[in-house]
Amino acid sequence: MEEGGTDSNGREFRNAAEMWREQVGDDEADVHKRIDWYRHGVGYWNGVEASVNGVLGGYGRVSDADIKSSEAFLLSLLPNLFDDGGKNGHLVALDCGSGIGRVTKSLLIRYFNEVDLVEPVSHFLEAARNSLAPENLMLQEGHQATNFFCVPLQEFAPEIGRYDVIWIQWCIGHLTDNDFISFFNRAKAGLKAGGIFILKENIARSGFVLDKEDRSVTRSDLYFKELFQQCGLHVYRSKDQRGFPKELFAVKMYALTTDVLKRNRITRSKSHTSNRPGIIK
Ligand SMILES: C[S@@+](CC[C@H](N)C(=O)[O-])C[C@H]1O[C@@H](n2cnc3c(N)ncnc32)[C@H](O)[C@@H]1O
Repeated sequence: MEEGGTDSNGREFRNAAEMWREQVGDDEADVHKRIDWYRHGVGYWNGVEASVNGVLGGYGRVSDADIKSSEAFLLSLLPNLFDDGGKNGHLVALDCGSGIGRVTKSLLIRYFNEVDLVEPVSHFLEAARNSLAPENLMLQEGHQATNFFCVPLQEFAPEIGRYDVIWIQWCIGHLTDNDFISFFNRAKAGLKAGGIFILKENIARSGFVLDKEDRSVTRSDLYFKELFQQCGLHVYRSKDQRGFPKELFAVKMYALTTDVLKRNRITRSKSHTSNRPGIIK
């Protein structure tokens, strides 16, 4: 990403390479810097209450609007993904950086027979396990949260060919560019044939914004598209989230396919004044 960016203290970077060199160093030589980056990221969330308001950085009130738009986006994709609209198959989803299981509980578990969760912060994952337990949640027959993996995405490798949808929301900013690319490359193998990624993320107006507090990076649409290309992923469809408070970053949903062939198969069938607005983190 050649465009410049800023950090949460207003410091400017000429480009992303300069920022990453400073934050995580140059590969093997600076392995401790990279470890520190991730330790700070998870450390930040370790200190956050396991609640909707906690995982949404004090903006728990946007959860309903978020889920509603996500549901519409998912529903727009399901008929194209599966000949029967996903009604008769056994559908499996993975919720990445799941936090307390907010997205699984309000959305994924209603459409997928099985949902697995991956989340590095153990008290979040325990809250998810508890709230998704059959005795605490009225679930349709044949629907369940199956696996709870307490692992960060940069270390996670999914079971081969298990998932119809891999959902990644508000967590990929914690991964460096290199780890972003290796994660998606490993995760591709976890998709069933014709499966897709859905990425929902904050979007910077240009370049990137580094959050020094939780060690995450908010990337621009162009930055994401450059990374998708490096991962060999194609944007099948994207949609802007509407109805969030003006002070928040813009939010976008991307449906990503692994190759053009699969994309063809699918085909068959807020205004901001600054690049550093409030953030859901
Ligand atoms: C803003 S919360 C979003 C949680 C959830 N996706 C949601 O939308 O409710 C960010 C989540 O990313 C998780 N996270 C932080 N670092 C991560 C990493 N390296 N890999 C995966 N998840 C990470 C945090 O623990 C937290 O649960």
